Amino acid sequence: MSKHVLGILCSGRGSNMQSILAAVESGEIKAKVGIVLTDKPEARALILARENGIKAVCINRKECTDQQEFEEKLVTELRAAGVTLVVLAGFMRILSPYFVGEYRHQILNIHPSLLPSFGGAHAHRDVLAYGTKVSGCTIHFVDEGMDHGPIILQDTVPVMDDDTEETLAARVLKKEHVLYPRAIQLYVDGKLEILDDRHVRIKQ
Ligand code: GAR
Repeated sequence: MSKHVLGILCSGRGSNMQSILAAVESGEIKAKVGIVLTDKPEARALILARENGIKAVCINRKECTDQQEFEEKLVTELRAAGVTLVVLAGFMRILSPYFVGEYRHQILNIHPSLLPSFGGAHAHRDVLAYGTKVSGCTIHFVDEGMDHGPIILQDTVPVMDDDTEETLAARVLKKEHVLYPRAIQLYVDGKLEILDDRHVRIKQ
C-alpha cells in the first residue's frame, strides 16, 4: 500500500468524490482517503463520505471571519489527517496563495472544460454561448491563478447542436469520473514530473 493519504474538498453533489472513493475501493487508486472537507453544511458529499465510513467535516465559510481563518481551519484538518495530496472535487472556492503555499504541487483540481478556455464557474454555459464544437475536462495542479496551474490530463467530448447546459454537463461528467482517478493514481505512483510552471511530463 502506498503511503499517500488523500484529502478531498467538495462544495456540493460529490459525484467526483464518489468516483474517487470507488477507485480507492477497487484498488485503481493505491492510497487511502483520510478526510473529506466541505465549505457548506448542506453539501451532499458530507453524507456520502460518512456513509462510506470516511471522516467528513464541514468548515462553514460563512462562520469564518475571513478567508485566512477558513483556510487555516482547512489546513489544520488536513494536517491532522496526514494528508499528502489535496484533491479539489467540485470545490467552488478560490484558494489563496497561503493555502497553495502550504501544499505546493500537492493540490489537484478538476475543471469541466478544456482549459485554458472557459475557466470559471459557468463553463458549460460559456461553451454553449461561444459555439465551440468540442468541450471536455481538465485535471491540473493548482497554483495561485484561477483554473491555471500546469495541466496533467484532458479529455474531450463533442458539443451537439441541441445541447443544453445539463446534457453537455452530463456528457463531460462521465469523462471526469474516469479521468480524475487516473490522474490521482499517476500522482500516487510518482509518475507526474512538473517540468516548469506550465508543463507536466507523465513518466512511463
Ligand atoms: C464537476 O463538473 C466539476 O468539474 C466542477 O463542478 C462539478 C462538481 O460535481 N468543478 C468546477 O467547476 C470547478 N471550477 P460533483 O460535485 O458531482 O463532483
